[in-house]
Amino acid sequence: MESAWQIRYGRDGEVPAGVAPFLEHRSVRRYSEQEVPESLISALIGAAQSASTSSNLQLWSVISVQEPGRRAAIARLCADQGHVHRAPWFLCFFADHARLRAAAAVHGEACAGLDFAEFAIMALIDVALAAERLVCAAEAVGLGACYIGALRNDPAAVQALLGLPQGTFGVFGLTLGYPDPERPASLKPRLPQDAVWHREVYAPNGIGDYDARMDAFFGREGMAQGEPWSAKSGKRVGEDHLAGREVILDYLHRQGMLRR
Ligand SMILES: Cc1cc2nc3c(=O)[nH]c(=O)nc-3n(C[C@H](O)[C@H](O)[C@H](O)COP(=O)(O)O)c2cc1C
Repeated sequence: MESAWQIRYGRDGEVPAGVAPFLEHRSVRRYSEQEVPESLISALIGAAQSASTSSNLQLWSVISVQEPGRRAAIARLCADQGHVHRAPWFLCFFADHARLRAAAAVHGEACAGLDFAEFAIMALIDVALAAERLVCAAEAVGLGACYIGALRNDPAAVQALLGLPQGTFGVFGLTLGYPDPERPASLKPRLPQDAVWHREVYAPNGIGDYDARMDAFFGREGMAQGEPWSAKSGKRVGEDHLAGREVILDYLHRQGMLRR
């Protein structure tokens, strides 16, 4: 059987035992019926809150969406993705300036710096670090997860559905549950390391053999081949593929974020 390193890079490599589990991540979109108790979610949120956070400001929040009507509605807003409908848990991660603004207002602080891009970026970094720590912890106990960027397709509708105040922004969702053993997810190849790891100064190395390795991956998965990853990915970031997200800058301005 191929090692995770072989799948990621198409060649052999040594990985220390403690690092090996981190190479095993794959997005899991199909879940078993096994219940995930709320106590475990609480432990995972503890892991998320244990992530590093700029200046300990903790500029993020998470909403779990479990009530069937609300889950169906949020799933529809997330491009109607089946795993959002069906996952045992669905967590929405938010950049959150509102909590700090309210806490500091008690002391007469205006928090005017929160208008600047710096603090929007800070909140976005915080939320991503927290979520990924939660995902690592979840995977360590056998759960599988899938990020849902489609939460940003219609930010105003998400705001209305989840009762979000000014100063917040839904960054991504996360589906969570035990993987369906009958339909396991596969590990995906990654770019060659020298495409992403530069020494001392930026030195563009291209993408090496990545198109060929992704093509072979899609073949193994029985998915449509033909168009190289680089072409497909170029289209993915074309202007016509924003799926509603072209409103985000205006939306953030209205939310009092990224104003300056
Ligand atoms: C911020 C973010 C948003 C994503 N949004 C979606 C999504 O809406 N739906 C989905 O099925 N997968 C989504 N993904 C999963 C990616 O497609 C996946 O991570 C990528 O293809 C690499 O595959 P892997 O995670 O299995 O290694 C998202 C991942 C990230 C990090």
